[in-house]
Amino acid sequence: MATAAATDREPPAEASPRNSGSARGARPGGVFQVEHPLIQYHLTRMRDETTPANVFRMSVRRLTMLLAYEATKDLPVSATKVQTPLTETAGVTIDGRVGLVPILRAGLGMVDQVLDLLPMAEVWHLGLYRDEATAQPVRYYDKLPAQRPVDVGMIVDPMLATGGSVMAALMTLREWGVRQVKVLSLIAAREGIDVVTAQFPEAQIYICQIDPELNDRKFIVPGLGDAGDRIFNTVEPG
Ligand code: PRP
Repeated sequence: MATAAATDREPPAEASPRNSGSARGARPGGVFQVEHPLIQYHLTRMRDETTPANVFRMSVRRLTMLLAYEATKDLPVSATKVQTPLTETAGVTIDGRVGLVPILRAGLGMVDQVLDLLPMAEVWHLGLYRDEATAQPVRYYDKLPAQRPVDVGMIVDPMLATGGSVMAALMTLREWGVRQVKVLSLIAAREGIDVVTAQFPEAQIYICQIDPELNDRKFIVPGLGDAGDRIFNTVEPG
Protein backbone atom coordinates (compact mmCIF):
# COMPACT_ATOMS: atom_id res chain seq x y z
CA MET A 1 0.00 0.00 0.00
CA ALA A 2 2.97 2.32 0.17
CA THR A 3 3.87 3.90 -3.09
CA ALA A 4 7.40 5.04 -3.54
CA ALA A 5 7.20 8.62 -4.70
CA ALA A 6 9.14 10.15 -7.55
CA THR A 7 11.88 11.22 -5.14
CA ASP A 8 12.88 7.59 -4.43
CA ARG A 9 16.51 6.90 -5.02
CA GLU A 10 19.12 4.33 -4.20
CA PRO A 11 21.45 4.97 -1.26
CA PRO A 12 24.58 6.85 -2.33
CA ALA A 13 27.21 4.61 -3.89
CA GLU A 14 29.91 5.95 -1.61
CA ALA A 15 28.33 6.59 1.73
CA SER A 16 30.47 7.68 4.64
CA PRO A 17 31.36 5.03 7.27
CA ARG A 18 29.05 6.71 9.81
CA ASN A 19 26.14 6.57 7.44
CA SER A 20 26.84 3.68 5.18
CA GLY A 21 23.50 3.15 3.50
CA SER A 22 20.85 0.62 4.36
CA ALA A 23 21.16 -2.18 6.88
CA ARG A 24 20.68 -5.85 5.97
CA GLY A 25 17.41 -6.30 4.07
CA ALA A 26 16.36 -2.70 4.61
CA ARG A 27 14.51 -0.66 2.03
CA PRO A 28 16.54 1.97 0.19
CA GLY A 29 16.13 5.59 1.11
CA GLY A 30 13.34 7.59 -0.45
CA VAL A 31 9.81 8.81 0.11
CA PHE A 32 7.08 6.28 0.83
CA GLN A 33 3.64 7.83 0.70
CA VAL A 34 1.13 5.52 2.34
CA GLU A 35 -2.21 5.63 0.57
CA HIS A 36 -5.31 4.26 2.26
CA PRO A 37 -8.91 5.43 2.71
CA LEU A 38 -8.51 5.45 6.50
CA ILE A 39 -5.51 7.72 6.18
CA GLN A 40 -7.40 10.14 3.96
CA TYR A 41 -10.38 10.07 6.34
CA HIS A 42 -8.42 10.84 9.49
CA LEU A 43 -6.29 13.41 7.71
CA THR A 44 -9.46 15.19 6.64
CA ARG A 45 -10.54 15.39 10.30
CA MET A 46 -7.16 16.85 11.21
CA ARG A 47 -7.37 19.48 8.48
CA ASP A 48 -10.81 20.63 9.66
CA GLU A 49 -10.35 23.81 11.69
CA THR A 50 -13.40 22.95 13.82
CA THR A 51 -11.92 19.64 15.00
CA PRO A 52 -11.33 19.90 18.77
CA ALA A 53 -7.99 19.03 20.37
CA ASN A 54 -9.10 15.64 21.70
CA VAL A 55 -10.27 14.47 18.25
CA PHE A 56 -7.16 15.95 16.62
CA ARG A 57 -4.95 13.99 19.05
CA MET A 58 -6.89 10.81 18.35
CA SER A 59 -6.44 11.30 14.62
CA VAL A 60 -2.69 11.78 15.10
CA ARG A 61 -2.59 8.48 16.98
CA ARG A 62 -4.54 6.56 14.38
CA LEU A 63 -2.48 7.90 11.48
CA THR A 64 0.71 7.14 13.38
CA MET A 65 -0.38 3.54 13.86
CA LEU A 66 -1.11 3.13 10.15
CA LEU A 67 2.17 4.78 9.17
CA ALA A 68 4.22 2.77 11.65
CA TYR A 69 2.75 -0.47 10.34
CA GLU A 70 4.16 0.38 6.92
CA ALA A 71 7.44 1.84 8.20
CA THR A 72 8.33 -1.28 10.17
CA LYS A 73 7.89 -3.70 7.27
CA ASP A 74 11.62 -4.12 6.72
CA LEU A 75 12.67 -4.59 10.33
CA PRO A 76 14.87 -7.68 10.57
CA VAL A 77 13.56 -10.65 12.54
CA SER A 78 15.02 -13.88 13.87
CA ALA A 79 13.32 -17.21 14.16
CA THR A 80 12.35 -18.37 17.62
CA LYS A 81 10.11 -20.98 19.17
CA VAL A 82 7.04 -20.35 21.25
CA GLN A 83 5.04 -22.70 23.45
CA THR A 84 1.30 -22.28 22.88
CA PRO A 85 -1.24 -23.84 25.26
CA LEU A 86 -1.31 -26.77 22.81
CA THR A 87 2.17 -27.23 21.38
CA GLU A 88 5.48 -25.64 20.49
CA THR A 89 5.55 -23.69 17.21
CA ALA A 90 7.69 -21.24 15.23
CA GLY A 91 7.72 -17.51 15.93
CA VAL A 92 9.94 -14.47 15.45
CA THR A 93 11.71 -11.84 17.50
CA ILE A 94 12.62 -8.37 16.24
CA ASP A 95 16.38 -7.98 15.86
CA GLY A 96 18.44 -4.98 16.90
CA ARG A 97 17.78 -1.80 18.83
CA VAL A 98 15.20 0.65 17.57
CA GLY A 99 15.48 4.24 18.78
CA LEU A 100 12.40 6.41 18.57
CA VAL A 101 13.29 10.12 18.32
CA PRO A 102 10.29 12.42 18.82
CA ILE A 103 10.88 16.04 17.88
CA LEU A 104 9.32 18.08 20.69
CA ARG A 105 6.67 19.12 21.08
CA ALA A 106 4.44 17.74 18.37
CA GLY A 107 6.35 14.48 17.95
CA LEU A 108 5.26 13.48 21.46
CA GLY A 109 1.77 12.93 20.05
CA MET A 110 3.10 10.00 18.00
CA VAL A 111 5.25 8.20 20.57
CA ASP A 112 2.75 5.96 22.34
CA GLN A 113 1.40 4.43 19.16
CA VAL A 114 4.84 3.40 17.94
CA LEU A 115 5.64 2.03 21.40
CA ASP A 116 2.43 0.01 21.33
CA LEU A 117 3.80 -1.74 18.24
CA LEU A 118 7.47 -1.77 19.28
CA PRO A 119 7.44 -2.05 23.07
CA MET A 120 11.19 -2.72 23.18
CA ALA A 121 12.06 0.56 21.42
CA GLU A 122 14.15 3.20 23.20
CA VAL A 123 12.90 6.80 23.23
CA TRP A 124 15.41 9.63 22.79
CA HIS A 125 13.85 13.10 22.96
CA LEU A 126 15.01 15.98 20.80
CA GLY A 127 13.71 19.48 21.47
CA LEU A 128 13.50 21.76 18.43
CA TYR A 129 11.27 24.71 17.76
CA ARG A 130 11.05 26.76 14.63
CA ASP A 131 12.03 30.40 15.06
CA GLU A 132 8.97 32.37 13.91
CA ALA A 133 11.02 35.06 12.19
CA THR A 134 13.56 32.90 10.36
CA ALA A 135 11.75 29.50 10.20
CA GLN A 136 15.07 27.96 11.24
CA PRO A 137 15.07 25.17 13.85
CA VAL A 138 16.37 26.08 17.31
CA ARG A 139 17.63 23.23 19.50
CA TYR A 140 16.61 23.43 23.15
CA TYR A 141 16.82 19.81 24.39
CA ASP A 142 19.05 16.97 23.25
CA LYS A 143 19.61 13.88 25.38
CA LEU A 144 20.88 11.61 22.63
CA PRO A 145 24.01 9.81 23.84
CA ALA A 146 27.37 10.05 22.09
CA GLN A 147 28.04 6.30 22.12
CA ARG A 148 26.31 3.01 21.21
CA PRO A 149 24.06 4.11 18.34
CA VAL A 150 20.79 2.28 17.86
CA ASP A 151 20.48 0.03 14.79
CA VAL A 152 17.40 1.80 13.46
CA GLY A 153 16.46 5.39 14.23
CA MET A 154 12.86 6.47 13.87
CA ILE A 155 12.24 10.22 13.88
CA VAL A 156 8.61 11.16 14.54
CA ASP A 157 7.11 14.60 13.91
CA PRO A 158 3.62 15.18 12.45
CA MET A 159 4.80 18.00 10.17
CA LEU A 160 7.61 18.51 7.68
CA ALA A 161 7.36 22.04 6.29
CA THR A 162 10.69 23.53 5.17
CA GLY A 163 12.37 20.32 6.33
CA GLY A 164 14.75 22.22 8.61
CA SER A 165 13.70 20.44 11.81
CA VAL A 166 13.83 16.95 10.31
CA MET A 167 17.23 17.67 8.78
CA ALA A 168 18.55 18.84 12.15
CA ALA A 169 17.31 15.54 13.63
CA LEU A 170 18.80 13.53 10.75
CA MET A 171 22.15 15.26 11.26
CA THR A 172 22.03 14.41 14.97
CA LEU A 173 21.40 10.73 14.21
CA ARG A 174 24.17 10.76 11.60
CA GLU A 175 26.59 12.13 14.20
CA TRP A 176 25.45 9.45 16.65
CA GLY A 177 26.36 6.87 13.97
CA VAL A 178 22.90 5.45 13.24
CA ARG A 179 23.06 3.49 9.98
CA GLN A 180 19.37 3.24 9.12
CA VAL A 181 16.98 6.14 9.72
CA LYS A 182 13.25 6.37 9.15
CA VAL A 183 11.22 9.57 9.35
CA LEU A 184 7.51 9.26 10.15
CA SER A 185 5.57 12.41 9.38
CA LEU A 186 1.85 12.85 8.77
CA ILE A 187 1.91 15.83 6.42
CA ALA A 188 4.66 17.55 4.43
CA ALA A 189 5.20 20.28 1.88
CA ARG A 190 6.64 19.26 -1.48
CA GLU A 191 9.40 21.86 -1.12
CA GLY A 192 10.54 20.46 2.24
CA ILE A 193 10.45 16.85 1.04
CA ASP A 194 12.64 17.75 -1.94
CA VAL A 195 15.22 19.48 0.24
CA VAL A 196 15.39 16.61 2.75
CA THR A 197 15.71 13.89 0.11
CA ALA A 198 18.46 15.85 -1.66
CA GLN A 199 20.45 16.29 1.56
CA PHE A 200 19.72 12.86 3.09
CA PRO A 201 19.00 10.44 0.22
CA GLU A 202 19.58 7.45 2.49
CA ALA A 203 16.70 8.36 4.84
CA GLN A 204 13.40 6.52 4.50
CA ILE A 205 10.59 9.06 4.75
CA TYR A 206 7.10 7.69 5.48
CA ILE A 207 4.37 10.21 4.88
CA CYS A 208 0.58 10.32 4.66
CA GLN A 209 0.20 13.43 2.55
CA ILE A 210 2.39 15.81 0.55
CA ASP A 211 0.79 19.24 0.13
CA PRO A 212 1.78 21.52 -2.74
CA GLU A 213 3.24 24.58 -1.07
CA LEU A 214 4.36 26.73 1.84
CA ASN A 215 2.95 30.19 2.45
CA ASP A 216 5.06 33.27 3.20
CA ARG A 217 5.19 32.25 6.90
CA LYS A 218 6.45 28.80 5.87
CA PHE A 219 3.22 27.07 6.88
CA ILE A 220 2.07 24.07 4.85
CA VAL A 221 -0.84 24.95 2.51
CA PRO A 222 -3.57 23.74 2.62
CA GLY A 223 -2.09 21.94 5.64
CA LEU A 224 -3.73 21.68 9.04
CA GLY A 225 -2.30 24.61 11.02
CA ASP A 226 0.30 24.00 13.72
CA ALA A 227 0.13 20.38 14.84
CA GLY A 228 1.86 21.05 18.18
CA ASP A 229 -0.61 23.77 19.12
CA ARG A 230 -3.57 21.64 18.06
CA ILE A 231 -2.35 18.52 19.91
CA PHE A 232 -1.66 20.43 23.13
CA ASN A 233 -4.61 22.83 22.81
CA THR A 234 -2.46 25.96 22.79
CA VAL A 235 -3.85 27.59 19.66
CA GLU A 236 -3.93 31.36 20.16
CA PRO A 237 -7.42 32.76 19.54
CA GLY A 238 -7.64 35.07 16.59
C1 PRP B 1 6.59 22.34 13.85
C2 PRP B 1 6.51 20.88 13.47
C3 PRP B 1 7.93 20.58 13.08
C4 PRP B 1 8.38 21.85 12.44
C5 PRP B 1 8.24 21.72 10.94
O1 PRP B 1 7.07 22.47 15.14
O2 PRP B 1 6.02 20.06 14.50
O3 PRP B 1 8.76 20.25 14.19
O4 PRP B 1 7.50 22.90 12.91
O5 PRP B 1 8.77 22.84 10.30
P1 PRP B 1 10.08 22.79 9.41
O6 PRP B 1 9.97 21.59 8.55
O7 PRP B 1 9.99 24.08 8.64
O8 PRP B 1 11.26 22.75 10.33
P2 PRP B 1 7.12 23.87 15.91
O9 PRP B 1 8.39 24.58 15.63
O10 PRP B 1 5.86 24.63 15.63
O11 PRP B 1 7.22 23.43 17.42
P3 PRP B 1 6.13 22.65 18.31
O12 PRP B 1 6.20 21.19 17.94
O13 PRP B 1 6.60 22.90 19.69
O14 PRP B 1 4.77 23.24 18.03
